[in-house]
Amino acid sequence: MTDAFAAQPEGNEPYAFEEAALPALRLPGRVHVSANKYDAYDALMADLLIHAAQCVRQFGDFHLALSGGSTPMPFYEQLMTDPRARGFPWARTHLWMVDERCVPFDHEKSNWRQIGEILVEASDIPKNQVHPMQAYLPDADTRYEQELREALGWRERGHDRLDFVLLGMGDEGHTASLFPHSVAQDAKDRLVVFNRGSTVVPPDRLTMTYELLNASRFIAPLVLGANKAAMLARIAKKADDFHEIPILGISPLAGELKWFIDQDASAST
Ligand code: 6PG
Repeated sequence: MTDAFAAQPEGNEPYAFEEAALPALRLPGRVHVSANKYDAYDALMADLLIHAAQCVRQFGDFHLALSGGSTPMPFYEQLMTDPRARGFPWARTHLWMVDERCVPFDHEKSNWRQIGEILVEASDIPKNQVHPMQAYLPDADTRYEQELREALGWRERGHDRLDFVLLGMGDEGHTASLFPHSVAQDAKDRLVVFNRGSTVVPPDRLTMTYELLNASRFIAPLVLGANKAAMLARIAKKADDFHEIPILGISPLAGELKWFIDQDASAST
């Protein structure tokens, strides 16, 4: 049994999850390759449940930051419907956004429009623990930084960081809204910044910075499908820098990086 685990979310019966081992790509951090996207969702869900339960036990709350894009939406749906996830501590969870497009929440390109609909309306997460990015406001960057500092400030120093960050990856290697050769990649002493410019896929974006992301306890890029395979193969060659391939800038200082990918995405090596 490889990478198998049994989790016992609070108030639930334990469950076991098993998955056959598949050859892993040589990406920075740990790599979990699943036979298909459904197994990848299961593997990610099991880690998420374990981390959530541990953080609630240790700190009394759990700070979760989620990405938009199309890849994680079915995973978010699963989190709401899968009986194995019924012990998820929503009541103790703070829900943050990794990035957002500078549009109102009801815009078709708003990440929050989808995530809020799937996760917030169907869970018992208290409204004051839900932190959408109001990216359409001119001072959204400093507002969100302030919100993060206030919410995480309750934690003991050293533990005042995001607990679990779910990332995606674009075909050209962007992650969050950190696009190749874009200004946000060089932000210093900032947690959240706007990003715009020729490589930023419109509309303009608000994004967590490397500094904030890399301080997190656990970072989980979920990368699925054959159209991501060429970029993963390029990352595995380690010949580029993070300005060219932004996800290479993800390197947790004292946390863990674990990729969740499927066989199609790992196919070109
Ligand atoms: C977003 C994301 C972004 C996304 C990638 C991958 O808001 O779009 O946070 O970084 O994860 O673009 O997107 P797909 O999952 O649609 O391929």
